[in-house]
Amino acid sequence: MLISSPEVAESLLKQNVNACKANYPRDVAKSLPEDVKPGVYYGWAKVDTEAVHKMVVNIGWCPFYQNKELSIETHVMHDFGRDFYGATLKICVIGYLRPEKNFTSIEKLIETIKQDIENAHAALDLPESIMFKDDSFFTDQ
Ligand SMILES: Cc1cc2nc3c(=O)[nH]c(=O)nc-3n(C[C@H](O)[C@H](O)[C@H](O)COP(=O)(O)O)c2cc1C
Repeated sequence: MLISSPEVAESLLKQNVNACKANYPRDVAKSLPEDVKPGVYYGWAKVDTEAVHKMVVNIGWCPFYQNKELSIETHVMHDFGRDFYGATLKICVIGYLRPEKNFTSIEKLIETIKQDIENAHAALDLPESIMFKDDSFFTDQ
């Protein structure tokens, strides 16, 4: 699955894990195929003309926050040292990690996301994942 759109970057995860989190606008989530299974996925991400980096993305309703609308929250595994409001984020989603869960505390949510990041790191080091890093999706305008 390939997604490309201007995005909005923000906050909490950035403070807790050293990387960039970006939210696509709501209409991007609404445009996803109906049969996309909610949950946490891994793949590759490119912000504007930066290099392609590893990412994990949550596609779902964030039960911890009881969101009413589907969202796409991408966590790019790279510290860019700046914010990305209005940047274009391209993501190539290549594998599924787990379903969304509810948590009794924000600490448990953050621990789980840190584990997701470790799992994604390992999965993305496999040859069948690395080949997508050079996909023309990232080089085509
Ligand atoms: C990799 C990843 C996994 C996530 N997993 C869950 C989850 O299982 N349940 C949930 O309610 N929210 C999940 N979220 C969404 C978080 O609730 C949300 O991104 C986080 O609280 C930070 O929100 P903020 O930066 O907008 O404050 C996940 C987000 C990411 C990036």
